[in-house]
Formats: sequence, structure tokens, C-alpha cells
Amino acid sequence: MFRTLRLSLRFLVPLLLAMVGVAYLSVPLVDSLMQRWFVRDLDIRSSFVARSLEEQVGELLESKSNSRIDALLERATADERLFALGLCDANGRLIRRTHSFPTSIDCSVSRRVGAGAGLVLDLPQGAVHVATAELKRGDETLATLVMLHDMSFVQRRSEDTRKYIVILFTVLGVAVALITIAVAHLSWRGWVAGVRAMLRGEGVIRPFAHPRPELQPLVGDLRALLRDMQNERREQDEIAARWNPETLRHLLHDQFSGDEVILVSNREPYIHVRTAQGVQVQRPASGLVTAVEPVMRACSGTWIAHGGGSADRESSDAAGRVRVPPGDPAYTLRRLWLSKEEEKGYYYGFANEGLWPLCHIAHVRPVFRTEDWDHYHAVNEKFARAVVDEAHSDDPIVLIQDYHFALLPRMVRERLPRATIITFWHIPWPNPESFGICPWRAEIINGLLGSTILGFHTRFHCNNFLQTVDRFVEARIEYESSTVSYGGHLTQVESYPISIAWPVTDTAAETVAAARARIRRILGVDDSHLVGLGVDRLDYTKGIVERMRAVERLLELHPEWTGRFSFVQIAAPSRSSLDEYQRFEAQVRATAAQINARFGDASWQPVRLLVEHHDADSVRAYYRACDVCMVTSLHDGMNLVAKEFVAARDDDRGTLILSQFAGASRELHEALIVNPYHTEQVAEALHRALGMPEHEQRERMASLRQLVRDFSVYRWAGRMLLDAARLRRRERIAARIDEYSESA
Ligand code: F6P
Repeated sequence: MFRTLRLSLRFLVPLLLAMVGVAYLSVPLVDSLMQRWFVRDLDIRSSFVARSLEEQVGELLESKSNSRIDALLERATADERLFALGLCDANGRLIRRTHSFPTSIDCSVSRRVGAGAGLVLDLPQGAVHVATAELKRGDETLATLVMLHDMSFVQRRSEDTRKYIVILFTVLGVAVALITIAVAHLSWRGWVAGVRAMLRGEGVIRPFAHPRPELQPLVGDLRALLRDMQNERREQDEIAARWNPETLRHLLHDQFSGDEVILVSNREPYIHVRTAQGVQVQRPASGLVTAVEPVMRACSGTWIAHGGGSADRESSDAAGRVRVPPGDPAYTLRRLWLSKEEEKGYYYGFANEGLWPLCHIAHVRPVFRTEDWDHYHAVNEKFARAVVDEAHSDDPIVLIQDYHFALLPRMVRERLPRATIITFWHIPWPNPESFGICPWRAEIINGLLGSTILGFHTRFHCNNFLQTVDRFVEARIEYESSTVSYGGHLTQVESYPISIAWPVTDTAAETVAAARARIRRILGVDDSHLVGLGVDRLDYTKGIVERMRAVERLLELHPEWTGRFSFVQIAAPSRSSLDEYQRFEAQVRATAAQINARFGDASWQPVRLLVEHHDADSVRAYYRACDVCMVTSLHDGMNLVAKEFVAARDDDRGTLILSQFAGASRELHEALIVNPYHTEQVAEALHRALGMPEHEQRERMASLRQLVRDFSVYRWAGRMLLDAARLRRRERIAARIDEYSESA
């Protein structure tokens, strides 16, 4: 209100002054115009007076009746305007005059008066209009009548007019000023709203479809800005194939002026474990770590994670920091220590017994305990404090990973409002009905909406999330631009399919032929033996049992594979302290044993189950040695095993069988896509893969490899960072507009 008043006065006062000025400047013009009109009017009146007196005066002159002439002239001047009359003879002598005739005027004045146009004289008694007319009898001029009209009324009228003009212009000025203020105010508000909406990514076209003429230049500038942003995005997309650690580093430097990157995940990238041989460094079986670690190497910065290794404390400094990778340090790992209770409640409890089954919908009931939730909340707080500890500025780039930290984005936002927070949810997001069973659904949504960007692997998961927001909190959702406005803050919800680093570093550097031969030796089979492979954490979402059932069905339907084909399942133990996982491991072991008992013999076993941790090189050797890789997840955010297998096959051979319920199936179209619940279908796909001609394998694999190469994890991170940079710019422009409209 106060601002509007201030704004109004700023418009009103200058406009009023201008109008009054214009009024005063226009008065002389109006004066002279009026003078001319009145003079012309008096000219006409004078000729009328002359005509009406001509005959009588002529007769009286002839009869020399001077007194009657005087009386006639005096009578005529009874008219309030006709001030005085005089008669001049042919010799230019004033022969008769009314009493009012000024002594300062004589008959010589008639020489100064033009024909039909009077003369204005300023006399001591005021301005007078002087006109003359010859009084004739036939051709003879009897006398010249001198007529003086009082012009004081002109002055009076002129003063009145001047007064009215000033009043009129002042009133007009006020009216124009008020209308201008109203229009400007509405236009400004509309414009600001339009720009804000655009910056929020809402309907970029709408506010500017028919811009008001006065806003045309500004709209032009904004359009140019938007065009630049869009071109930039297009260009960046076009160079997708060139994404690598270097481009990522440049991106950080160019778009974020080298701002620090802080990454948060539960799982740490390097685990120090105490073994009989001393402290060893292990890499976890985690898709998240596989994907994100190369990005951190490229960006440097700090990775905050739970220090869960038995030798982690002794391998870190007092603050829990250690430079990694060991031997070739590129970034800092900051370990946070969790108590057994915290780990039990936050990680095993709420994250893995609650959110994990909730989001995967893999027929395992989620368990929600208030105690777990409290630990989850407290551990998220602990990580938020660590983010603030590690931040050297008030606007770091914070990359938050996964379902362990649904509350962290909001907690960081509250502590570092200017931070760019990119949260990536590595697992699926279910539909609103499924998610709705979580007792803390609103808190989780609120937590995630503290992010600048919230990423999922697929558009499908983004839409599920937006619908969940719509169902459970009061937020404004723009489906077109995929943004959520909540509590005055905007979050971009976007799909960023995660991937792996390309090219893959192979420290073992073993050829495909060598790997094939070596692995077959380990399995105790000959070189022509075909090998199928599964690589997973021992998790009920991965479809390991379903996969083994498909192997069993293959042997039933196509007994020709008996003794010629083995299926190797590498299963990394995972979350083993949970009952559900222990039951699952037992089920996997029992299934393998049952199939082997049914089809195997002393020299051959159809299923080789390897429940143990395998390092990256060893897994890669299996990828290169196998003929078919089976990824049959019942539900999976992305599944990077599929991409790792493709990346390992530089011989362009091998076939991928891929679940339609893994995010990867949205990208890897040349795989044999299956429904893991349909045992016969998977068995037939396996049969087809084992018999696939080499040229078909090559065609499919070459195309898969091109996709994984072009859409590497550097592009995944790069796209998120580019989007974040764009949002940062938009926020800055919005802030400037706010500042401007505050001060306007
Ligand atoms: O799939 C979700 C995820 O967090 C992955 O990112 C990762 O591969 C896996 O779970 C690891 O689980 P955990 O850290 O519990 O062993």
C-alpha cells in the first residue's frame, strides 16, 4: 500500500507540474487568439453602427442640426460596448463628438485604420477598438464617422479564460496522472507476474503472447534471454556424445565459477576393512557408487557418507576425512559415524524395511516403525550438519543421493538457503495410492521439495512423484514444465537416466578370449560351453529366483542345452541382518540347489551360485566371458548391471536379456525385453539368446554400446548441473526483479 502511494506520488507530482506549465505556456496563445476574434467582431459591429447612423447623420449634417447630431451620437453610445463616436469633416477636423470621445484622439487616426479592419489603441482608460466609416450622399463624402469600442471586456474575458485554462489543465493533469498510474501499476504487476511465471518455467509463451506495447522492449530482451538459454541447452544436448570428465570440469568452472561440490550418500565409495592380511580397501556392490564415483573424481569436492567399514576410523583423520581414491586422490571422503541404534533405525529400519519395499512394490510388505522414523530424522539432521560443516560458501552445490535422505534437502535448504541442491532418487517412485500408506508421506514430500532439482531415472517415476505431491500436499504443480512450487520455493522434477563412466577403465586389461578361457577353466567346462550370467546384490527386487526358474524351464523346454550351458549367479550379500534378506538368501540357495539336483550331475551343474563379494575387475571378466547376461529385476530404478555388461563387450558380442520393469529397458531397446514374472517367456528369450547368430549379436551390441557411450554418467551429471545452473540464473533474475519492484 505504502509502495503504491510512493509510486503514485512519483508519477503524480511531475505530471501535475508539467500540466500546469503547459497551461501557463498556452495562455498567451489563447489571449492573442481571443483578441483577434474580438477585433474581428468589433469590426463587424462598427460597420453595422456606421450603416445604421449614415442616413440620419447625413440628413442632420445637411440641415446643420448640430445639437440633434450630438444627441444622436450620445444615444448611440448608450450601447455598453460603443464607447465614443466622433465626426470628422472632409478637411480632417473633428466637428462633432460624444462626451466620452478621448481628447488624445483626433481625425488623423482615420489614416491609421485599414479598410474594414479596426485598430486597437491603449489609452489611459483602457484598450479601445477604433474603426472609421465614410458617410456619403451619392458620390460625395459628407463626413467620416470615428467609432471607439471599449475593449476592457476582452481583457476581463481573457482573464477568465486564463483562469479556466489553468483549472482545466490541472484537472486534466490529475486525471491523466491517475489513469497512467492505474495502467502502469496493472501493467507492472502483470509484467512482473509474467516474468516470475516464466522464470518459474510456467507457461513461457502465455504471458508474452500479446505483450502490451509499452512492455515490448523488455519482452524483447527476455525473449532473447530465453532463446539464449534454450540454444545453450540444445547445444549442450548436441554435444552429449562428448561428455567426459573434462567437459564436466569445464561445466563446473563456466557455469558455477568452480563452486564447491558436496555429495551425500549413505554408502561410501571406499570401505576400509580389517582382514587377516591387514587393512584392505573394498568397493561396495552399489550401482549408486559405480555411477557417482567417476563424477566425483571429475568434480573433486567432498563426499559425505556413513563410515561403515571395520577399519574406517583408523584410516581417517580426527574429523573422519580421508583423501580418495587411495593412491590417486581426487576428492575428500568425509565419514560420519553412526551408532548401532542409528544404523538399525535409519538404514535397516526406515530406509530398507520401509521405503525400499514401499517404492519397489515387489510383494514385500513395508514396515513402518515410529522409532525407525525418529532415527531416520535424526540421522538426516546429522548429515545436514555435516553438509554445513563441509561447505566453504553459502551457495555450494549439494548432490544428495537416494532414499536414505528424503528429509535432507529441506534441512540443508533451511541452513543454506542459497545452496543449489540436486537430489537424485535412485529407486522407483510408486503411484500415489502405494506411497500413501507411508505414515510420514507429507514429511517426506516436504523434505524432497527443499531441492532445486529432484531427479528420477524415468519420466514415469517423475509423473508418479508429481501425482503424489498433488494428492498429499498443498503445492502448485506445473505439469508442462515439470515444476512444483511449494512454500515459495520452486523444484524442478526431471528425469535423468543414470549411466556409467565411458570408457571403462579395466585395470586387469584381459582380452575377451582370455577372459572366456579363464572363466571356463574356473567353471570346469570346455571352451564351447555357453555361459549365462546374473550379477546382483542379494535382493528380493532383483528377480534372482525368477531367473533361475527360467533356467530350469529352459532345460525342460529345450533339453538340448543340458550339459552345454551353465548359468552363473554372482550374488553380493546385502542387508543381511534383515530377516527378509536372510529368508531371501535361503530361498535363492534352495532354488539353485533344487535345480542342480534335478538337472545336474557330478560333471556339470546348471546353476553356479556365487554368494560373495566380487571386485570390479572380476565382475568385468565374467561380463566379457559370458554369452548372455540376464537382468530380470521385478522392479528397478535403472539397473546399471545391464549397462556395465554392454560397456564390457568391446567385441560386440553377447546378448542382454532385460526386464521390462527395469528403468534401463526404456533405453536399451536392442536387448531381449522380458517380463520376469512370465517364466516361459524368459526361458524362450534365453533359448533365443543362446542360439543368436553372431551377426545379430553384433548389430544389437553395437547399437547398445553406442547408446551407453553417448549417454554416459558424465552426461547424467552434466545435464543436472546445466539445469541447476539455468535455475540459478532464473532465480537470480527473479531476485533482481523483486528488488527492482521493491524499490519502484
Ligand atoms: O538401488 C538403490 C541403491 O541405493 C543403489 O543405489 C545401490 O546400488 C544399492 O541400493 C545399494 O544398497 P546398499 O547401499 O543398501 O547396499
